[in-house]
Amino acid sequence: MKNLSRNFFLHLSENKLLNRSAKKWGLKLGASKVVAGTTIEAAIPAISQLNHEGLKVTLDHLGEFVTERNEAEEAARACVHTLQTIQSAGVDSQVSVKLTKLGLDIDENLCMENMHHIMQAAAANGNFINIDMEDYSRYDTTLNIVEELRRTYDNVGTVLQSYLYRGLEDLDRFKGVPLRLVKGAYKESPEVAMQDKEAIDANFLRMIQKHLLNGSYTAIATHDHQIIAQIKTFVHENDIPYDRFEFQMLYGFRADMQKQLAEEGYTFRTYVPFGNDWYGYFMRRLAERPQNVAFAVRGLVSK
Ligand code: FDA
Repeated sequence: MKNLSRNFFLHLSENKLLNRSAKKWGLKLGASKVVAGTTIEAAIPAISQLNHEGLKVTLDHLGEFVTERNEAEEAARACVHTLQTIQSAGVDSQVSVKLTKLGLDIDENLCMENMHHIMQAAAANGNFINIDMEDYSRYDTTLNIVEELRRTYDNVGTVLQSYLYRGLEDLDRFKGVPLRLVKGAYKESPEVAMQDKEAIDANFLRMIQKHLLNGSYTAIATHDHQIIAQIKTFVHENDIPYDRFEFQMLYGFRADMQKQLAEEGYTFRTYVPFGNDWYGYFMRRLAERPQNVAFAVRGLVSK
């Protein structure tokens, strides 16, 4: 049943027609609970509020799978504008990007050029860019681009996913690189990705522990209280300094736990999406755990 609903929402997340239509709807189906606004300006009050509660932020200008050059260039300009707005509003926020929004599927050189613009703007403001990991068909190219960028910039990191069999091994390639570690959000084939939750969780723990023991900065991105509890014990037992890692969760999920972790003295960063291209992001969240966004399920049924 659980896999059925996961596949249903992942399938919906890939529906191009609904994706296009949703851009014109505004934040519907309850999306405003998990998306901070349709523009960066509209999202600033939510970021200030999180900062006020002791939470750092990473901002994601929603959108992915761009197929037109001008859209990819516009996305890069919007990202630079986001960095400038963070600076002028004086909020504590990094930026997360998706390479398919910046032209990865059109031309790798275009994507790289866009990344250089963004990296230069980030470096000028002393900010940090995280490259989100998308589905497996973009995995190798994404890692290659991150490696290439790291030759010039040290303010860039990426994400590794524990559902991939090769996740643990790929950590070796990124020793010393700040990484966000996640379980993985896409529908992947059993040839490349584990399908069993227990195996994914076990690999997730192994990956987090390995990156921490390597002394590499580790962002532990999960809403899973059991994993969080195990990592808390692990860092204490292994004397991992608090400035070597942070916890991350998505905006709108487990807000009380986010605040509590910050109050306990852990660095906490909330991943805050904004923009009108919210549909794919929203459907993936429903796929993970429909009850997370029960308001949306009610919205879907009543519409
Ligand atoms: P999971 O969904 O496995 O839940 C585990 C358990 O935690 C549940 O059984 C329940 O007990 C508890 N739980 C979870 N949510 C709860 C809630 N809201 N309330 C109460 N209990 C709850 N993926 C990707 O492929 N590429 C990426 O770049 C990113 N980036 C990213 C950034 C950030 C900040 C986060 C938090 C996540 C991502 N992800 C991602 C998504 C990630 O891969 C994964 O799909 C989701 O985080 C869901 O898995 P969890 O580890 O959160 O717990």
